Amino acid sequence: PVKVSKICCIGAGYVGGPTCAVIALKCPHITVTIVDLNQSRVDAWNSPDFALPIYEPGLVDVVRQARGRNLFFSTDVDKGIEEADLIFVSVNTPTKKSGVGAGFAADLNYVELATRRIATVANSSKIVVEKSTVPCRTAESMRTILEANSKPNCRFDILSNPEFLAEGTAITDLFKPDRVLIGSLETREGVEACQSLAEVYANWVPQDRILTVGLWSSELSKLAANAMLAQRISSINALSAICEATGANIDEVAHAIGYDSRIGPKFLKASVGFGGSCFQKDILNLVYLSESLHLPEVAAYWRQVVEMNEYQKRRFSKRVVDTLFNTITGKRIAVLGFAFKADTGDTRESAAITLIKDFQSERAFVNIYDPQVEEEQIWNDLSEASPLIPIESIKKQVTICHSAIEACKNAEAVVIATEWKEFLEIDWEEVYKGMNKPAFVFDGRLLVDAEKLTKIGFKVTTIGRPSAVAA
Ligand code: NAI
Repeated sequence: PVKVSKICCIGAGYVGGPTCAVIALKCPHITVTIVDLNQSRVDAWNSPDFALPIYEPGLVDVVRQARGRNLFFSTDVDKGIEEADLIFVSVNTPTKKSGVGAGFAADLNYVELATRRIATVANSSKIVVEKSTVPCRTAESMRTILEANSKPNCRFDILSNPEFLAEGTAITDLFKPDRVLIGSLETREGVEACQSLAEVYANWVPQDRILTVGLWSSELSKLAANAMLAQRISSINALSAICEATGANIDEVAHAIGYDSRIGPKFLKASVGFGGSCFQKDILNLVYLSESLHLPEVAAYWRQVVEMNEYQKRRFSKRVVDTLFNTITGKRIAVLGFAFKADTGDTRESAAITLIKDFQSERAFVNIYDPQVEEEQIWNDLSEASPLIPIESIKKQVTICHSAIEACKNAEAVVIATEWKEFLEIDWEEVYKGMNKPAFVFDGRLLVDAEKLTKIGFKVTTIGRPSAVAA
């Protein structure tokens, strides 16, 4: 097998950046260059004061140690490709917005463009690794494109190496992965390429956690893992609706069922719904795949996981309106958290966006506070969510605040949309003083101590518990 000494990663995003920074840290003998077409993103990765383009706990330390030593960020995609013996393709694969499969299928345009660039530029043999999450058999298309465009004496071996890191814990996930999955063709060359990549990971990942499988199994495993994780959330959220209607407590139910070793305690937290760039996109991708394979029952089964998530968000907004005496028109609502989960600045598919859009259409005023998300990002997301409303009108209804206390001032209700730890330390007495009465708290993340807040005087509504007002 080829001994890898130069790696290029195409795509300096949430996956390419952290993954390849960790490879560089753990493999000082390998030169790692992360390339991207987005100049401002690359500039941020290279910024002298380490103002990196993404927020991830521990990431700055990794970049600080490796950058300039054997880790480089550049917009020179061609040079990166040319020099590398192994190339990760880690570009975005969003859901298609138009054309065949719109709303379901993955948009593979970025993967294809990157692949074509590799074929055009490469003057020597390369191992090309599909790191982006893609539908099954994408590796086959990549191989066809590469082979049809390759120069003589250039061999391309394709591997699938899906990434299982979770945003917010990316660095610890990468340092100690549950497993690394590598898929290859079962030819001699395929197996050798697989060994080359496995050797890179073996610098810090125990051998028994490096799994090697066929290409298609590897591609499908990524979709399957995300589908099953999201399904757990939708399952617990479906049960939370029953709890609210009966008086059962979803936390107690989750605790009780989690003790069953077959079920396990993790990922059983009810919430306002899952977000993030992956779960919904990957399930819809699986739905599309199932339909293309003429398996409508399978497609309907997985589609329901996404539908339950939409229902959970809708149900939460409705509960806010119902509780505030059936109208929030002209009322001020503080939304704490805008990121799709804690410890990330990523807002893609964040439940907060849906909630705020619902509040806007009820003509409420909304104050938003998030410790990490940039103001500009919030405006982009809100205007993308309501394309027909001019941004000036949105800005009349929405205010971005610089602290939780400021956001809650003169509000009728506080909605906790992201489980940021700092929201645990809010001085609720102080918040209460500044709010209109009765003061309501809607905990969409099972974060705060409802009893404590009730004692202060708040009317607290928690996911998976009957309404405080009714109780
Ligand atoms: P991202 O959008 O943050 O990053 C992708 C980057 O690729 C962008 O900076 C873009 O400018 C760049 N790019 C696109 N086409 C290019 C080209 N032809 N040449 C050079 N650069 C190009 O996306 P993210 O979140 O890093 O996701 C990448 C892939 O990884 C997706 O397929 C996603 O499904 C998958 N994934 C994401 C995870 C996450 O937590 N975000 C976790 C596991 C997998």
